[in-house]
Amino acid sequence: MNFHIMTLFPEMIEHSLSTSILGRAMMKGLISFEAINIRDYSKDDKHHKVDDYTYGGGAGMLMQAQPIYDCYLAIAEKISAGQNSGDNIDKTNVAEVDNCCEKKKPRVIYVTPQGTVFNQQMAADFAKEEDLVFLCGHYEGVDERVLEEIVTDYVSIGDYVLTGGELPAMVMIDAISRLVPGVLNNDESAMTESFNNNLLEYPQYSRPEEWMGKKVPAILLSGDHKKVDEWRLEQSIIRTKERRPDLYEKWLSENPLKPEKKKRRRRKSNPEINAEDCTNIE
Ligand code: ADE
Repeated sequence: MNFHIMTLFPEMIEHSLSTSILGRAMMKGLISFEAINIRDYSKDDKHHKVDDYTYGGGAGMLMQAQPIYDCYLAIAEKISAGQNSGDNIDKTNVAEVDNCCEKKKPRVIYVTPQGTVFNQQMAADFAKEEDLVFLCGHYEGVDERVLEEIVTDYVSIGDYVLTGGELPAMVMIDAISRLVPGVLNNDESAMTESFNNNLLEYPQYSRPEEWMGKKVPAILLSGDHKKVDEWRLEQSIIRTKERRPDLYEKWLSENPLKPEKKKRRRRKSNPEINAEDCTNIE
């Protein structure tokens, strides 16, 4: 998977993304990053200006359309050249050749506090793409016309405002990259952790068995894998209900809790079902 990041601060991206797990994945050829300086596409040879005042007045400068658009065109061309390198194409088949040269527009994410708030499901969706282009804004924003022309997705990382789009882009790239097959050593870790099924991850413990008078829950030492799985699911449910009631409601709507099978005396008044009384394990 290839990430193309349009930015005024390429060094910010290059330093951060080439370390740790993502750096290793890059060395393995599973992902690639390319930070492209929008300033290189300025038509102003002297100062490489990319911003100007806003029509209608108001404080601050706006990123202009032309350098961003030209930067985008260069990336789209590169992507298209890669897709149409023709390695697997039977050149005797005219229809196939014609097809291959049709340019597929890349998905372009504009990182902005005005976008849809990023989540794990969106990360999984983006991870299916071969190429993703990010546009990082600065100053007071970007001329609307170029956004209309190139952007396919408006995405925010939360309801707060940062000084620029580089950090949000890196947050998203990290979350997306780790879902690319082979990036994580252990495929399982991508499957069981927080946000799969809208549940947060259960508590985990390592050695020693007792620390500061706190003991590891006995069930985790029992060797009974079925019981351990049941305990973990229960803990995930309890934790999600406490910490993220919004996610718990979503999970509940997809996994209605079934009252436990063991015989309980029914309370007379309409008993409210809660996570601790129920299970969805058959
Ligand atoms: N740019 C500035 N703030 C942002 C945010 N919260 N999410 C995405 N992009 C941003």
